[in-house]
Amino acid sequence: MKLWGGRFEKETEAMVHSFSSSLSYDRRLAFYDLKVTEAHALALEECGLIDAGEREAVLSVLGQLRVEMERGEFAFGDDEDIHTAVERALVERLGETGARLRAGRSRNDQVAADMRLFVKDESRRIAFLLLDLMAVVLERAREHLGALMPGFTHLQPAQPVLLSHHLMAYFEMFKRDMQRLGEAEARADLCPLGSGALAGVTFPLNREMMADELGFGGITANSMDAVADRDFVADFLYALCVLTTHLSRMAEEMVLWCTPRFGFMELDEAYATGSSIMPQKANPDLAELVRGKAGRMLGHLVSMLAVLKGLPLAYNRDLQEDKEGLFDAVDQAAAMLRVMAGALATARFEVARMAEAVGEGFTNATDLADYLVRKGLPFLEAHASAGRLVRSCIEGGKKLEELGLEEFRAVEPRVEDDVYDHIALNACVEARDLPGGTATMRVEEAIDRAQEWLEARRTRL
Ligand code: ARG
Repeated sequence: MKLWGGRFEKETEAMVHSFSSSLSYDRRLAFYDLKVTEAHALALEECGLIDAGEREAVLSVLGQLRVEMERGEFAFGDDEDIHTAVERALVERLGETGARLRAGRSRNDQVAADMRLFVKDESRRIAFLLLDLMAVVLERAREHLGALMPGFTHLQPAQPVLLSHHLMAYFEMFKRDMQRLGEAEARADLCPLGSGALAGVTFPLNREMMADELGFGGITANSMDAVADRDFVADFLYALCVLTTHLSRMAEEMVLWCTPRFGFMELDEAYATGSSIMPQKANPDLAELVRGKAGRMLGHLVSMLAVLKGLPLAYNRDLQEDKEGLFDAVDQAAAMLRVMAGALATARFEVARMAEAVGEGFTNATDLADYLVRKGLPFLEAHASAGRLVRSCIEGGKKLEELGLEEFRAVEPRVEDDVYDHIALNACVEARDLPGGTATMRVEEAIDRAQEWLEARRTRL
């Protein structure tokens, strides 16, 4: 069945039909299409275009269809899209009543409604999965409170930090991701039904009622925008893109930390993969895949924007290209979140190796400079003196804390024997005792706040 045969004398070329058909993937919207059709039937009844008996018959067939689709028993056939498939079934089963349902709607407002419902549901599903990962981050951070590691800039040893502080940095990223997901959901939360093909419809459909029925927070304001708009898809893809970029950064650190050269982490065997030729290998393939898939996610966002950028108002068939990327993006994001939560929950942090590494690379040099500032030197000079001391350590094969007092004084006479307390590695951590800093108390507070945030979010969602 076609929804548009009347003015045509010829059959559509088979190749054109299959080229333009979206049914193979938009059947994923089937349940939304049934709900949207139900809301439309209610509106048609309200304005007297079908009677109560007809409305009831429509609803009951929609119910049947849902059950058949759930069981995989519905024959989708080779319809052009999901909207046609649903309508065909209604006409086959209800005859004239089914045929009345097209009044006052177009696939253009219908597909926009289906897509908005999909984005709303999926943004919540992703948010729940993200909360699970956040709980793991929090758990691991609490478990390792007190463990030191080198913090890096430029991937060079920079300053000592707590492993927990490093982990909690991801918690902050994910909090912003939660916000973005919520914003994407809110953006999708307007009902376009009643916009028709582009100009609105001639029947007085109760738009608020349809929006209510479908759980939308409101209705769209301009019928032309409503059928042409896929910003809500781009917004959601952007949220997913930033989220998976964060996952990718975490994955990159897993890859680095798992190399024997770093030796900071060991993945559980259930999360590592072997090599077909090198028997000794336990590779972090899952992390590499997360990193790779983040690139694919970015592709989906760029594709959507590229589809939109040249479109004149209002609906254009290009918009059908909004779906496959979106579907793939949510599936990939969900899988990435699950696998990262599992990997992080079961990984072993090699805290002894981290503690060893924090003592390499003069990570306490800033603290030495800060110490000299406390003794009255301007930072510029303190920095230069500390730099000279680092240089002499490099030459003598020593660590800063291994220099004798006289060696310090040869470079900077204001050094006293309290210097050792200031450049001890755990002292460097504890000295960063201000909001957002890595001192143990501050990190513990951050973990407590995060716990509260997480619990509040869980109950709110
Ligand atoms: N399958 C189409 C899509 O996804 C539905 C809308 C088709 N509308 C039209 N006028 N051809 O965009």
